[in-house]
Amino acid sequence: MSIRKDPETGLITLHTAHTSYQLWADELGIVHHLYYGPSIGEADLRGLEFRSDCGFSPQPAGLDAQRDYSLDTLCQEYTGSGVGDYRIGCLRLTAADGSRAADLRFAGAEILPGKYELPGLPAAFDNGGECETLRLTLKDPVTGLTVVLLYGVYHDADVITRAALVENGGSAAIQLDKAASACLDLPFGEWELIHFHGRHCMERQPERTPLAHAIQTLRSARGASSHQHNPFAILAAPHTTEDAGECLGAMLVYSGNFKIECEVSQMHSTRLVAGISDDDFRWTLAPGEQFVTPEVLFSYSAKGLSQLSWQYHHFLQHNIIRSVWRDHPRPILINNWEATYMDFDAQRIWDIARQAKELGVEMLVLDDGWFGSRVDDRSGLGDWQFNEKKLGCTFNELIGKIREMGLLFGLWIEPEMVSPNAELYKAHPEWALTIPGRAPTTGRSQLVLDMGRPDVVDYLYGLFHQLLADHDISYIKWDMNRNMTDVFSRLLPTERQGEAAHRYMLGLYDLLGRLTRDFPEVLFEGCAGGGGRFDAGILAYCPQIWCSDDTDPIHRIKIQYGTSFGYPPAAMGSHVSASPNHQTGRSTLLSTRSTVAMAGTFGYELDLQRLTEDEKDEVRCHIQQCKEIQPLVLNGRYDRLTDAMTDTCFTAWQFTAQDQSRAMVSVVVIDPQANPWPIHVRLKGLDPSALYHETLTDHTYTGAALCHAGLTLPIMQGDYPAVQIMIERIDAV
Ligand code: GLA
Repeated sequence: MSIRKDPETGLITLHTAHTSYQLWADELGIVHHLYYGPSIGEADLRGLEFRSDCGFSPQPAGLDAQRDYSLDTLCQEYTGSGVGDYRIGCLRLTAADGSRAADLRFAGAEILPGKYELPGLPAAFDNGGECETLRLTLKDPVTGLTVVLLYGVYHDADVITRAALVENGGSAAIQLDKAASACLDLPFGEWELIHFHGRHCMERQPERTPLAHAIQTLRSARGASSHQHNPFAILAAPHTTEDAGECLGAMLVYSGNFKIECEVSQMHSTRLVAGISDDDFRWTLAPGEQFVTPEVLFSYSAKGLSQLSWQYHHFLQHNIIRSVWRDHPRPILINNWEATYMDFDAQRIWDIARQAKELGVEMLVLDDGWFGSRVDDRSGLGDWQFNEKKLGCTFNELIGKIREMGLLFGLWIEPEMVSPNAELYKAHPEWALTIPGRAPTTGRSQLVLDMGRPDVVDYLYGLFHQLLADHDISYIKWDMNRNMTDVFSRLLPTERQGEAAHRYMLGLYDLLGRLTRDFPEVLFEGCAGGGGRFDAGILAYCPQIWCSDDTDPIHRIKIQYGTSFGYPPAAMGSHVSASPNHQTGRSTLLSTRSTVAMAGTFGYELDLQRLTEDEKDEVRCHIQQCKEIQPLVLNGRYDRLTDAMTDTCFTAWQFTAQDQSRAMVSVVVIDPQANPWPIHVRLKGLDPSALYHETLTDHTYTGAALCHAGLTLPIMQGDYPAVQIMIERIDAV
């Protein structure tokens, strides 16, 4: 039993393998948050609560004499609105009479086997007996608003999921102005915020800042989780490192506008509130209706950041990613994008494919430019007919020849978009997000389809279902190349326009859900101008996501490093591209590009025909090597051996088999030195008493020696040299 409710005190404790989470509803029905941290058994922590007569912190109705009781200072599970808690809140609403208050009081707790589902939204699932659910019901007596707090307790995974169902149990419509998924009040402790900011071509750069006595907000208002911020945050104790110290993560399973807010209160407690961004959000809840918030995945580690990352990696791989591909090595692919951009015909694609096959590649992915009038990025989106004139053959001929070569075939699509000059837009201008009377803002010369419209989703479903049913397609790259503006749905009445952005996400998930269910054998890769929608919501449908449009390996090291704090390397699309690199102009060695790309789902994105014969031989070796190490990347434990943001000379990382039988250490010199210091790395996670052979110097050491004494590398100079060291257990000592 992971969830215990004390029949006498009503105290509820959630237990995972290494953590406890405790809450309690008092006699007024206020649900206190008491604890989230390392396991504390059955201890009753109510005595730890701090009460004081805090000036300017008001008392709930009827408690006038009890000056040390205020919602403004109590740690709570979910807050109401307008009744005395001035910190960042979970809920904001406008009732029929214009009042904005909700006073949420406990109305029942249920413990259920298995994992709850969230209608319309992706959520963690249970593979059988892994999870127990707590349903906590809170009610506002005046409006009739009910908030059901859901907790999914994954004992072994050390993850607690949360979400809220907001229901209108009254007789008049309520406007929801904010409906967060969860609130986490940490009563004590100093915390630093680690978050992942970025931009197109430099996503998920970790930044660590102390929490101030202020509100720090991570958010996206772009209609996508975004390149700029990621819906994942870590709170870490000040001295927490990779290997030691306390930290906890909050990850939203959502791909749209989000907010993660942190506030250190006047009483020095820390509040984290996560959910859909309330900026530009307003949802009308008619009597009897329910609003479902996205899920948040909480996880806690008392053993440093690496442990926290492994918990998320494992959880996303086993409880979020549904694809049958999650346990299978992904085909090594060649994507024609950086080889040709949109300038290609079938012959060019076949030539690329033939060369790739000859070197050991397994799948050809045809990127943007194969349909409609798509000759550049100003046209054609929405007209998804194969362009026989440009390609010089039929679609089936193109695919047939590639299949005959012994390659799988993959295809790029961007379903959510329309070009203003497309036939689709001419036929259905009302299907795009535009505001009547206002010329729409464009991004990459395109408009965004209103995915909140069932007719748009049904149309796209019919179209792409047919495409996949009629053709031998093994892989789809699902792109999304601009952010939302002019968020206005022609289908929604005036007072419901604040729902458009979230309805878009519901439509997107519906479409992704239907297509991935219909074609389970197809490998879907998410993409949004690279990593503009790299989140757990997309991972629920696509087991991998193109990590960034920046394929420069020296930049990719940082991007993949930042991404790895929350997301498993097996989910990161990572390719070898040309040198000099198209995004930065930097020249790097083929072996370096390959080393970096092997830390994700491996592929090529260049014209292999332009390589020298020596380079082609190298590619053959890299592909062979990649196949050997794929199981490590897929299921192994990933260690960051250096801090890619601050260690300036070299970066190193390690994959280790779960049974500690083998490992791979990758080292890339990012700033070759004159008169250099030694490059020295200490390995992690090996069996201390086992004997391992390492390929760097062809020596044998114990795991203890490799982890404590480490390895010294030879001097490496030149254009960012890299080395991959294989470690194999040969014997027990
Ligand atoms: C996005 C993707 C690229 C490529 C282009 C095609 O930018 O991230 O990989 O597919 O679109 O237009």
